[in-house]
Amino acid sequence: MCGIVGAVAERNVVQILLEGLRRLEYRGYDSAGVALIRENNLSIVKRTGKVQALVDAIDEDNGKGTTGVAHTRWATHGGVTEVNAHPHYSHDRFAVVHNGIIENHKYLRSELTQKGFEFVSETDTETIAHNIAANMAETGDLLQAVLTAVKGFEGAYGTVVIDKQNPNEMVVARSGSPLVIGLGIGENFVASDQMALFPVTRRFIFLQEGDVAKITRTSVTIIDSDGNEVEREATESNVQHDAGDKGTYRHYMLKEIYEQPDVIRNTLKERVTTDGLTDNLFGPNSDVIFEKTNYIKIIACGTSYHAGVTAKYWLEQYAGVHCDVEIASEFRYRKSFVPDNSLLITISQSGETADTLAALRLAKELGYMSSLAICNVDGSSLVRESEMSFMTKAGTEVGVASTKAFTTQLASLLMLTISIGQQKGMSSDVKSSMLAGLSSLPTKLEETLALSDEIEDLAEEFADKYHSLFLGRGDQYPIAMEGALKLKEISYIHAEAYASGELKHGPLALIDADMPVIVVAPNNELLEKLHSNVEEVRARGGIMYVFADKESQFESDETMRVVNVPNCKDAIAPIIYTIPLQLLSYYVALIKGTDVDQPRNLAKSVTVE
Ligand code: AGP
Repeated sequence: MCGIVGAVAERNVVQILLEGLRRLEYRGYDSAGVALIRENNLSIVKRTGKVQALVDAIDEDNGKGTTGVAHTRWATHGGVTEVNAHPHYSHDRFAVVHNGIIENHKYLRSELTQKGFEFVSETDTETIAHNIAANMAETGDLLQAVLTAVKGFEGAYGTVVIDKQNPNEMVVARSGSPLVIGLGIGENFVASDQMALFPVTRRFIFLQEGDVAKITRTSVTIIDSDGNEVEREATESNVQHDAGDKGTYRHYMLKEIYEQPDVIRNTLKERVTTDGLTDNLFGPNSDVIFEKTNYIKIIACGTSYHAGVTAKYWLEQYAGVHCDVEIASEFRYRKSFVPDNSLLITISQSGETADTLAALRLAKELGYMSSLAICNVDGSSLVRESEMSFMTKAGTEVGVASTKAFTTQLASLLMLTISIGQQKGMSSDVKSSMLAGLSSLPTKLEETLALSDEIEDLAEEFADKYHSLFLGRGDQYPIAMEGALKLKEISYIHAEAYASGELKHGPLALIDADMPVIVVAPNNELLEKLHSNVEEVRARGGIMYVFADKESQFESDETMRVVNVPNCKDAIAPIIYTIPLQLLSYYVALIKGTDVDQPRNLAKSVTVE
């Protein structure tokens, strides 16, 4: 989603800003812009499309400045146009970039219009620029002008303001959208994500909710939400930005699919042995908290939600704890009942998803006993605001369609199931079987990836299809949901997932030869039921693609193609069966020629509602 980079220095900052934007590109955006101040001159360049279009538009005249802000925009208010791209400006003096949504922008717009301000864009952000210009006329001080302005904003903002008449400072404000200050020597920076600033610094101050800060080359002044000047600790970041380049892979997504055996090895390393799990693996005192836990609520969005649904099956079956899973955007806006000794678990790749963060904050008010974040980004807002955290070690995931983050979430949730199960009297047989399953995972994943050619071949049959149906039962139902999401996201083929038992309650009406049916059918106690579901589809002329192991006794014929997945233990089967569905959506998208790593309309990290 939108990205922010800002700098105040003695040197020309344009390359720092552009490199920062490149590092945020994978998050998804549709236009980019930069504002630079040089000797009391303000220049603004914006382009729709990729950051490269902005880079190409920058030259000797407009590409110099010692203070500057840059932005990648993912359109919310107003179409994808150069005028709507950030930075926005007022009086040819102030330039503003903004992540988030100013919800009362209509009211602010009419108020400012009455005061004589002229709006050129359709965005909510332009109200910030004019608001600050209006306040500046009264206070004459940029920090004061921003402090006054934010009092009138409703909604979410991470915003940076520069003023050509105060060329050696930036004023920034954070509420509901992250901002981090990067500390240099004789120069300072700001960004919506620390990764954008790794080429220039590793020392960061993470702003807190409601903070407003003035940043000069040599100082940082922070005012908290109560209006008091505060010191915030600077920390040295050890976060690895290891995305590297695509290497020999055509897309990041394919690279990330193939990285799964290794990143799962990393996720298990020093956490799982054949004897058990490390004590208090999920945070200080986690074993005591798990022992007390009577009820678990899992909150997440998208793919991370699917990981949560899979975990519900595991936690209830193997650990014997009552668990519900809910989409964050639903949870945050309804009244819910919190039983005694409830544990809240959030799952998120980025740790910055607006709805998941809001749900965590709400849960604290509702009196959950404790909170645990399962997350891929150390230092993210979700990790910092949760009482316990557990890092999935997927490494940087660049492809918008989540792959390795999902399977490392699942591996982490299986560890969690064992960890909680141990406190709830899980039998040693179940525990050893799950541990053995976990240890075998990386090798089984390697074997499953060897199906790639066979799946690439099968993908040809989807290229002219508009709709598809994914079926699974038990803990494979969420895997069917995830398979359907992947196909929609990157190939733009409509895909729905159903628990197979629901077929005759409606979706059977859709079956015909133009609606491929994808079935995940591991060899477990539900196999016979799945065989019946397959026959129901066959009887209606449906064409099926079945992923099953050899013993499952599915045979390819004119209406059914069977892909044999390696045998595996029950608990890890959802992780193994995820792989062929990822490969299928990747190869279908490849044939359709879509932008696999940055599919249309989507952002990697959804930091607004
Ligand atoms: C997955 O392919 C999606 N891009 C999306 O559903 C994602 O999982 C969701 O937005 C949640 O993100 P998070 O894990 O960073 O919170």
